[in-house]
Amino acid sequence: MAKTPIFLVLMVCCLLAVFAERKRFTLYVNSHHRDLNETLYADDHECHTIPYFYRNRASSIKTHGHCVVLFPSLDCKEGEEFFFKAHCEGDGCCRHTDFADCEIEKDDGTVLKIDNAAQAYVIC
Ligand SMILES: *[C@@H]1O[C@H](CO)[C@@H](O)[C@H](O)[C@H]1NC(C)=O
Repeated sequence: MAKTPIFLVLMVCCLLAVFAERKRFTLYVNSHHRDLNETLYADDHECHTIPYFYRNRASSIKTHGHCVVLFPSLDCKEGEEFFFKAHCEGDGCCRHTDFADCEIEKDDGTVLKIDNAAQAYVIC
């Protein structure tokens, strides 16, 4: 008879643990975290496609303390990582409030931008 409450408590604990694991960040269509925004989640370090409406449209991000990599390709192409994290140093480190001045120069001299170009993400 006393088994049901214990089972329920275990269920709730499991659910809490799962949600605590999920990392989130918020994309904004405009710079400086203004207006239209969408919060995305991931509980792994796999490549995820940004939802259609926000693809090629994001101009700023809130990482909520997480490390996020955005890619201007759907398949998270290597060498095209744009990093958004605290104390980021080196190539591919972008400002969270405005993507406009962030670019990567590839080995072949091509310059990639992430403003209005992000298509996929990885939680790092
Ligand atoms: C983010 O979008 C929600 C609606 O989905 C809105 O209420 C909120 O004001 C937006 N945030 C900002 C900073 O504009």
